[in-house]
Amino acid sequence: MPASLQLIGRSVNKNVEIQLGTTILQHALEHKVDFQNLCTRGTCARCRCLIEEGREHLADATEAEHKRLDPEELEEGYRLGCQTVVAQEGIIVARNKTYF
Ligand code: FES
Repeated sequence: MPASLQLIGRSVNKNVEIQLGTTILQHALEHKVDFQNLCTRGTCARCRCLIEEGREHLADATEAEHKRLDPEELEEGYRLGCQTVVAQEGIIVARNKTYF
């Protein structure tokens, strides 16, 4: 099954290899994709991203995500990159979209 994680930051857009069990933000930091981040604890929401493809390959939203994001945002596919763990191989596309 083809698997890759496409990370779209403010100016960098990269396809990277999936490391199961690690977060979207960890992938971005490791591969120098410019995802914003500050707290890495699920409170600042700088790492908010839209999962444009492959939501089914991600672990369920954490308690921090339920607290920080509206149910509608989760429904639309928004996640917090620092909280979202890649659980399964597959095609995933994540675009960093902060509020500001
Ligand atoms: S880095 Fe702050 S919520 Fe993810």
